Amino acid sequence: MSARCASLAAASDPRPEESPVSDKGWNYRTVIEPFRIKMVEAIPILSASERRAALDRAGHNLFRLDAREVTIDLLTDSGTGALSAEQWAAMMVGDETYAGSRSFHRLEAVVRRVIGHPHFFPVHQGRAAERILARTMLSPGQVVLNNTHFDTTRANVEQAGALAEDLPVAAAAVPEDESAFKGDMDLAALDEALARHGERVALVMLTLTNNAAGGQPVSMANVEAVSARCRAAGVPFFLDAARFAENAWFIHTREPAYASWSVADIARRLFDLADGCTLSAKKDGISHIGGLLTTRDPALAERFRNELILGEGFPTYGGLAGRDLEAVAVGLEEALDPDYLRYRARTVAYLAEGLLAVGVPVVRPPGGHAVYLDAGRLLPHIPKDAFPGQALATALYVEGGVRGVEVGSFMFPAARLQLVRLALPRRSYTQAHVDYVIEVAARVQARAGDLRGYRITEEPPFLRHFSASLAPLG
Ligand code: F0G
Repeated sequence: MSARCASLAAASDPRPEESPVSDKGWNYRTVIEPFRIKMVEAIPILSASERRAALDRAGHNLFRLDAREVTIDLLTDSGTGALSAEQWAAMMVGDETYAGSRSFHRLEAVVRRVIGHPHFFPVHQGRAAERILARTMLSPGQVVLNNTHFDTTRANVEQAGALAEDLPVAAAAVPEDESAFKGDMDLAALDEALARHGERVALVMLTLTNNAAGGQPVSMANVEAVSARCRAAGVPFFLDAARFAENAWFIHTREPAYASWSVADIARRLFDLADGCTLSAKKDGISHIGGLLTTRDPALAERFRNELILGEGFPTYGGLAGRDLEAVAVGLEEALDPDYLRYRARTVAYLAEGLLAVGVPVVRPPGGHAVYLDAGRLLPHIPKDAFPGQALATALYVEGGVRGVEVGSFMFPAARLQLVRLALPRRSYTQAHVDYVIEVAARVQARAGDLRGYRITEEPPFLRHFSASLAPLG
């Protein structure tokens, strides 16, 4: 397809023919998209002056661009994946019965196989599960510990009056650190926090993969250790399992004890170690909408059910249409396909390697769903309070219509790293699209010294990155 094809296989990949994950094996250097395209959607191609006008209209905030103004949309991997023919087919037979639909029971069978927790509730998306969890399990003054709370999880914990404390390993803050499991929780910090907060710790969570810290995976050893500590302390342990399949793939390829395990078995062991989970099916459920909340505890399930009925709907549809339940049921199993996961991880790594090759620093090693560009290092002349990440994100848009998202001091005023996340929607873009993104980034890199920072001209009281307006400095 493109000149870069030959470089697709990386030396760091497991020797595919030795991989027991897929009994078919894969012994080619080129890792292909394990699908062909049956339906296409045109993407807008704009002139540079049209892009500049769009950016001005949007107040230099990429969240305020319209889809028709974006060529390659890497804003998020959430709800933006391409559904499979099997998912569309299942959706056509979705059962829209209010109570006890066939589609619910189909999803239930998949959840039993993949997750295995005895009680589960569909919800409209991940944050609905977080909200129910927070409203039923937390009270003011209590504490939730997590490797790193995703922002909606943190917001729901804080809304319940509880404290959300992050306990990432130190390596998570060092973009050049090549450690395999930078999503791990710092176990010494967990021991210390459990001792310091005592009875006030209501819940411990692990976010798989750790989205707020570079999409980095958590090792099975870490999940085991956190699970054992929670059991000893009598504290419930939940997974934020939005990207459970990508995390399981990294365990398979990077944690030697699990090299001979299937990805589905690894995922199942992750869930076996937890008391429950929240799951946004918009990520590894490869669906446009949907989420899950699970628990082993029947008494807790009863409280979840009551809260669910108040805010989401009857427990057999939980804020979703029957056809959505079908899409999630199929997607959860497709996400565990080793051929798909190999291609998925390789695509993200390929983008990261391409960016590094053209001189754009990125968080290492590449994560599961996104590449995080280190704008702080690329643009050392722009101080944090002039938002180097925003300068880089808008430059990528003006250069080639590529939309990413700033994850730095514009999004989180206290942020230490100034990053831009390029998240890859599942199964949506081809290798040529990725090559184009690398080429756009190379052109931006070549004029990095000319990029200028920003000041905020208008900002809302909270979550300013979604709607604030900015103006370029100088
Ligand atoms: N947990 C994690 C780790 C997430 O990344 C997200 C969403 C959620 C929970 C909330 O799920 O959107 O279905 O309500 N992340 C998206 C992103 C928005 O772009 O990373 P949701």
